[in-house]
Amino acid sequence: MIQASEFARRRRALLKAIGDGVMIVPTGPVRRRNSDVEYPYRSDSDFYYLSGFPEPEAVLVLCPGRAHGQYILFCRERDAEKEAWNGDRAGLEGAVERYGADDAFPVTDIDDIMPGLMENRSKLYYSMGRHSEFDRRVLGWVNQLRGQARSGVHVPGEFVDPGHLIHDMRLIKSAAERRIMAAAARLSCKAHIAAMEICQPGMWEYQIEAQLLSSFMAGGSRSPAYPSIVGGGQNGCVLHYGSNNAQLQDGDLLLIDAGAELENYAADITRTFPVNGHYSDPQKALYEVVLAAQAAAIEQVRPGNHWNNPHEAAVRVLTEGLVDLGLLQGEVSELIETEAYRPFYMHRTGHWLGMDVHDVGDYKIDDAWRLLEPGMVLTVEPGLYIRAGTGGVDERWWNIGIRIEDDVVVTKTGHKVLTDGVPKSVAEIERVMSGRP
Ligand code: GLY
Ligand code: MN
Ligand code: MN
Repeated sequence: MIQASEFARRRRALLKAIGDGVMIVPTGPVRRRNSDVEYPYRSDSDFYYLSGFPEPEAVLVLCPGRAHGQYILFCRERDAEKEAWNGDRAGLEGAVERYGADDAFPVTDIDDIMPGLMENRSKLYYSMGRHSEFDRRVLGWVNQLRGQARSGVHVPGEFVDPGHLIHDMRLIKSAAERRIMAAAARLSCKAHIAAMEICQPGMWEYQIEAQLLSSFMAGGSRSPAYPSIVGGGQNGCVLHYGSNNAQLQDGDLLLIDAGAELENYAADITRTFPVNGHYSDPQKALYEVVLAAQAAAIEQVRPGNHWNNPHEAAVRVLTEGLVDLGLLQGEVSELIETEAYRPFYMHRTGHWLGMDVHDVGDYKIDDAWRLLEPGMVLTVEPGLYIRAGTGGVDERWWNIGIRIEDDVVVTKTGHKVLTDGVPKSVAEIERVMSGRP
């Protein structure tokens, strides 16, 4: 759990950084699924990172030096009737007492109050383009202030995206954040093992998805961190497969990319195993290449190495493997330079992981790859995908899609794999699956 003191520390760092500016961070809107049915609500990650406030219709404002309080939260007021229908609200008192706001106002009054908070501030820190309806309101407040310029009101002259400030903080995970991510990883590992233990030819992909969801929720998660990918055979070659509605075939591989969200932090794990519990020779040969590529990439995760070192290591091992198996012909270094591996490996080896599955944070600083630092968390997820009909490729390789993905935290001395609770060697996976009924 993130303590109130940690949320306060984050806000203090920003209050210091923005000087005599003002920062506005709205939470995400409620989204309609169809008719009057809404999607389950999920806070905006930046907003939640700074407030810990879980309700919709809320806006955080940071006003350094403001006499009546520097941290202002606009939120819904208490309302007995609405709460009877839709559940409790913190209300203005709760915003102050439970969430540490210095001052709280009804969100319905924001149009009246916000221009005054922006008055005579040199810079406005607001991320334009993320919530379009809110963008229009912010512009409305700016224009309202411009209309008062003749009465001596100063309008913020500089508009700054606070993304960089907040995202540089989010990129380095605190001890409390790492504990939550480790817990999300552990429960997601259990879900993957449960999927291996129930998988049988003839089952449907969504039945495996049901097991994942059940395990996630049994472990304390309220939602997957992203839609689970459960792809058998050729569907494992579709990177963003999401239909999950095919029947699993004897002899095919099953690729599962699924992770739970816990306290708004994501896990992101992929395992690829045989539907019938035994890898065929071609499946095993390619699997071992991906596994070796992943090991080489993880080995590169340590402070001082840069973001792209793991990817470079993975590409080298994958390319060597493809040459060894006769899927590519030529000199390895030349094949890497010409990206000859791309028909089989078309994505990058990972991404930052945190409150968002593809988490925030720059990958390059100016023109150079970012150096890895303790507290960063990233995925390492090489793969090989051979679709049926791939030109010049023998049929025995067709419909093999393999990815192996783990979540890795950079430590002072190297790295720690958060998701090593789910097997990934051929022998271990076959052993787990041999215990099936
Ligand atoms: N599950 C999304 C990804 O692996 O990037
Ligand atoms: Mn990933
Ligand atoms: Mn994934």
